[in-house]
Amino acid sequence: MSTREIPVIAGDGIGPEITQAVLSIVDVAAARAGTSIQWIPVVAGLGALEHGKELLPQRTMDEITRCKVALKGPCTTPVGEGFTSINVKLRKAFNLYAAVRPVRSLPGVATRYQDVDIVIIRENTEGLYSGVENEVTPGVVMSMKVASQNACQRIATWAFKFANRRGRKKVTVMHKANIMKLTDGLFLNCADGVHEVDYPNIVFESTIIDAGCMKLVQDPSQFDVLLLENLYGDVVSDLCAGFVGGLGVVPGANFGDREAIFEAVHGSAPDIAGKDVANPLALLMSAVMMLNYLAEQDQQETFAACATAIRNAYDGCLQAGEKTRDLGGSLGTKAFAEAVIRRLEEG
Ligand code: NAI
Repeated sequence: MSTREIPVIAGDGIGPEITQAVLSIVDVAAARAGTSIQWIPVVAGLGALEHGKELLPQRTMDEITRCKVALKGPCTTPVGEGFTSINVKLRKAFNLYAAVRPVRSLPGVATRYQDVDIVIIRENTEGLYSGVENEVTPGVVMSMKVASQNACQRIATWAFKFANRRGRKKVTVMHKANIMKLTDGLFLNCADGVHEVDYPNIVFESTIIDAGCMKLVQDPSQFDVLLLENLYGDVVSDLCAGFVGGLGVVPGANFGDREAIFEAVHGSAPDIAGKDVANPLALLMSAVMMLNYLAEQDQQETFAACATAIRNAYDGCLQAGEKTRDLGGSLGTKAFAEAVIRRLEEG
């Protein structure tokens, strides 16, 4: 039986409990598909500091470089003070410029919206997340929004290529180029150019983001692929999570040209940490994205089989009302993982 090594960062808050739940599910699915995964625990952020290590230890960097993928739980970032976000640091360290966040209506999860199937593609390295802030004079502070031709072109190319490969019909850029004429203007123009030259087969639309958010809330099913700069992508991902059941059900992946890190959209949820109530589904769905990615990268069909089995198992659970409390069910984190495993074993 082949074994694939995968570094895993459990993260903070609910991170360790949802990670434990997800690994137990993936292990069962892998064994049933005739493969196995060797998880390599590594630390980052608060978890690393608590172990007396630096924020992003060299071993964590080395293992991710060696294995080219990682599964990551949420990491806490102090608000308004303290260390810089380890999430942003990791994305920058590996140049993971494309964040992909699929938002899909789920069976058995009733919300105000049906038929939502949006993929958010977020530029992950620039914009207001440049981290360049300074005090101009006492009482006046400034944050720098950065946009470069290379990065805008790169993410636009990535988004259209993704849409084309997945048979998606439309890419919509949300921007504020009416106000930020240079930065958002560059982002918009690059997308327009990539569309015109390389992907005229895909419909291209753009909307000013404030009106775009209104349109999203009115009818999210009119959107297909959304392409956004860093901050807008962050905010709109959480907004869209609300269409399909909340932050507990939206996965994510951060891709570079070489490495990829898979993580849920949500954070470390300190308000529910350690209570066995967190929904592990978003991280589980991120693991499914990782397995499908590995199936392509390693040319290992067993990983695709594993991903399909897990997806069928959790869809079955949701349809049968076996859900965590955020989705209106009554299962705790562990009980939900056990329910998914039962279905995997039956299947
Ligand atoms: P959050 O996403 O952690 O929580 C927002 C709300 O959603 C909370 O009420 C929480 O209980 C609920 N929630 C989140 N995930 C859930 C799950 N799996 N199941 C059930 N309910 C869930 O956002 P918040 O509170 O603003 O941030 C907490 C910390 O997480 C901060 O330090 C922030 O910087 C960090 N963060 C980390 C991210 C990452 O590691 N990629 C992403 C977003 C935030």
